Amino acid sequence: MAPSAEAVDTVEPSSGVAELHAAKREAVDGPSPRATRAQHDKGKLTVRERLDALFDPGTFREIEGLRRHRAQGFGLENRRPYTDGVVTGWGEIDGRKVFVYAHDFRIFGGSLGEAHAEKIHKLMDLAEAAGAPLIGLSDGAGARIQEGVTALAGYGGIFRRNVRASGVIPQISVILGPCAGGAAYSPALTDFTFMVRGTSQMYVTGPDVVRSVTGEEITHEELGGADVHGGASGAAMAVCDDEAECLAEVRYLLSLLPSNNRELPPAVAPADPVDRRTDALARLVPSEPSRAYDVREVIAEIVDDGDCFEVHAGWAPNLVCALARLGGEVVGIVANQPSHLAGVLDIRASEKGARFVQMCDAFSIPLATLVDVPGFLPGRDQEHDGIIRHGAKLLYAYCNATVPRVQLILRKAYGGAYIVMDSRSIGADLSFAWPANEIAVMGAEGAAEVVFRREIAAADDPDEVRARRVKEYRQELMHPYYAAERGLVDDVIDPADTRAVLIDAFATLRAKHASLPSRKHGNPPT
Ligand code: HXC
Repeated sequence: MAPSAEAVDTVEPSSGVAELHAAKREAVDGPSPRATRAQHDKGKLTVRERLDALFDPGTFREIEGLRRHRAQGFGLENRRPYTDGVVTGWGEIDGRKVFVYAHDFRIFGGSLGEAHAEKIHKLMDLAEAAGAPLIGLSDGAGARIQEGVTALAGYGGIFRRNVRASGVIPQISVILGPCAGGAAYSPALTDFTFMVRGTSQMYVTGPDVVRSVTGEEITHEELGGADVHGGASGAAMAVCDDEAECLAEVRYLLSLLPSNNRELPPAVAPADPVDRRTDALARLVPSEPSRAYDVREVIAEIVDDGDCFEVHAGWAPNLVCALARLGGEVVGIVANQPSHLAGVLDIRASEKGARFVQMCDAFSIPLATLVDVPGFLPGRDQEHDGIIRHGAKLLYAYCNATVPRVQLILRKAYGGAYIVMDSRSIGADLSFAWPANEIAVMGAEGAAEVVFRREIAAADDPDEVRARRVKEYRQELMHPYYAAERGLVDDVIDPADTRAVLIDAFATLRAKHASLPSRKHGNPPT
């Protein structure tokens, strides 16, 4: 019924702005102070506190904050909170546009229903269209049980978009609460996954299912906590002590990445002199081939200001992968780590290196490979678990990489591991070696045993013959000049000149443009 003329006269004209602000206030505040307290009591920030910590102040722009689900049944029709449990939008990090979706655990446990999923899909499509990085702040209970198969389909849409955007825009998963079921596959499809000790867990089947299927009692943290994924499984690339540290690390990582695959990583004017001598290197790397040292100290001595972002620090520590700057330009560093397993390549190290090389190549980050490797790890377990196909992944990733690539051999490089660690023969643009260097098919002792076995066995004094042959082999073959004479090493350099030489090499190669034959895609070993 239309209002009477008298009634119309008494209604205050409204611009609707007050109602708009009230609705938005409700969306921003979340369900209740009790739910916020419960979130804090678990040691977690609320979704809005996280966004404040992530973005430059005042830059976050939310979309679909007033979205609500239209599901029926199980009482859902009476509970239709704004946002539907996920906040989506974009903001700036160091002045650069970044897109985010962030679960609000206070609403349906951050679970994913149809409307929630559609918001994420839209945001992902926008991020790809805008050519800007995408961050997912995960704190949710997985598929919204009351919404059944529509929730599962919502995950499918996320996975498909994760894969579509792979190598197009950087995608970062930050796990800040539970991440259960198939939901854990989204982080696995993205470029970087962060976790926080004590508050974030990822698993495909939770402790209850484990108990009912296998009878095993295991806690959430033991099954899929940050240290499990940062160490044993390798599913987390960075593990932090709290959310504030984690979000600060995400900001640092983004400062080293381009916004998309058509841009170059952001360069800065270096405060650290480009011609700084790296005198400490000769002391940091012992000349005796089997003595251990920490290659992270070598990296710190070479790169700008000693700063780097290490990926997978706790997983496969026998290979170090890090992003850093050299002369203000971002580089990806792959280095054997002699302080763990003598720096051998094994299955895990090969997988770690392959993924890192692939990521760097996708985002135009030049590669510096620091080699000090005794070979691949021998043994029944490695062979039976597939070192051949896993080792081939690293080879494949390097051979496919078209970014500028510089190899530096620090001390020793033997056999297949020498080839795989970005030798010139698989496409490194430049290769340098320090003078006290051994490059060979294998160590001198092993070589003498194979080549001179009969002679040693027949000798009156086998030890004398063996020692003489080892010495000969070492003098003839095991020095960088043998490789330098054959063009496999471009120059033998003084370790103190390392930083200047690498910076000059990458500056020279900056305009490198290489392409692979046209094909649908390769068929990498898996
Ligand atoms: C809807 C859910 C929910 C879910 C929790 N809630 N899980 N609502 N769908 N999946 C609700 C709870 O009812 C509760 O609502 C609120 O979220 C908080 O949950 P609590 O259990 O009180 O919180 P907490 O003790 O911190 O435990 C969190 C949890 C637990 C560990 C995540 O809730 C849990 O195990 N939930 C089930 C997880 C799960 O099995 N998800 C499906 C996975 S399979 P009120 O109203 O009380 O606040 C999956 C398939 C994906 O995701 C497939 C992709 C291919």
